[in-house]
Amino acid sequence: MSRHAFVLGGTGQIGRAVAETLLASGWDVTIASRGSRARPDGLARRGAKFVALDREKPGDLPRVLRGGADALIDVTAYGAEHGRQLLGVQGSVGGMVVISSSSVYRDDAGRTLDEAAQNGFPEFSEPIRETQPTVAPGDTTYSTRKVALERVLLDEARVPVTVLRPAAIYGTGSVHPREWWFVKRILDGRRAIPLAYGGRSRFHTSSVLNIAELTRIVLDRPGTRILNIADPSASSVAEIGAVIARRMGYTGEFVELSEDAFPARIGRTPWSVPRPFVLDNGTAIALGYSPATSYAEASGAICDELAQISALGDWRDAFPVLARYPYDQFDYDSEDAFLETAA
Ligand SMILES: NC(=O)c1ccc[n+]([C@@H]2O[C@H](COP(=O)([O-])OP(=O)(O)OC[C@H]3O[C@@H](n4cnc5c(N)ncnc54)[C@H](OP(=O)(O)O)[C@@H]3O)[C@@H](O)[C@H]2O)c1
Repeated sequence: MSRHAFVLGGTGQIGRAVAETLLASGWDVTIASRGSRARPDGLARRGAKFVALDREKPGDLPRVLRGGADALIDVTAYGAEHGRQLLGVQGSVGGMVVISSSSVYRDDAGRTLDEAAQNGFPEFSEPIRETQPTVAPGDTTYSTRKVALERVLLDEARVPVTVLRPAAIYGTGSVHPREWWFVKRILDGRRAIPLAYGGRSRFHTSSVLNIAELTRIVLDRPGTRILNIADPSASSVAEIGAVIARRMGYTGEFVELSEDAFPARIGRTPWSVPRPFVLDNGTAIALGYSPATSYAEASGAICDELAQISALGDWRDAFPVLARYPYDQFDYDSEDAFLETAA
């Protein structure tokens, strides 16, 4: 008999990829969401079932999960309260995979991604392993909430729980496609694209296809653990730009800037960081995981999708998380003025 996976938050970029991968491996898949995002057609055709639920509505999750599932994959959990909510339904599931974040790590001086603007960018002896200290659990920042979620689950769950810590996630169906920083400039005909920190920044990317593949593996090897998950290598911003340029037939130039202020003023891509943020995937590999894809392979489909979606209307409606960045990512006047002075 097929095993049954229940994907909470399954219409988003990670959930779709997880659903696809598990369907292809013979699982039955139920996808749960509030229904504000479109249901991916392909998944319905391949037999995925869709259910509407809002996890914030008391009683919704236990009601929908009453029939039970072999695995609950939760991509949309934040904070101790969601952790306790998951403990409340553990009697109905065989095990869980929960998406956390690599932003939980702090460096030896206590610096973190969340507070980099105030305290300076963290400096890790790369690559970061799961044993690297994290921020303390709490409810003050995104990352303290992720740690609180992790602790509740890892300390108290009676079923196997795998916590995954991805880095900069990318995939089709994203509402936060970092690639748009390059794609929009190319579509707008920008002849020169500046790159902060000489384009050398490495902020590790995590393909949803790799997250999905690791999910498949851990469900076959139940256990309670934390695993980093990032692409097989950490591309530099210059390499990311070159891959996107090739895909889009871009013939302009990248201008590598030597300025080292943090945050960068000009050429600040969503991956522009003054020091590397790179994960070690060794623990996942030791479990039997091998990457499904690389940035160079997987990013092409995203560029194609972004070009199509953006032709349909305002990018801010299509990519709301990207649109909430607290600075103008497309301030071409400042960019031009800077490039002119630098020339
Ligand atoms: N983006 C990154 O670079 C990054 C890095 C590290 C970790 N993460 C983690 O990755 C996860 C986000 O995954 P993603 O990128 O796949 O997200 P996503 O594309 O935004 O999808 C979120 C999914 O959750 C559903 N959802 C949201 N609120 C819900 C609720 N109250 N009840 C039921 N379903 C709900 C959404 O559908 P509806 O809106 O229709 O409900 C959608 O299916 C988060 O845990 C985040 O912390 C992200």
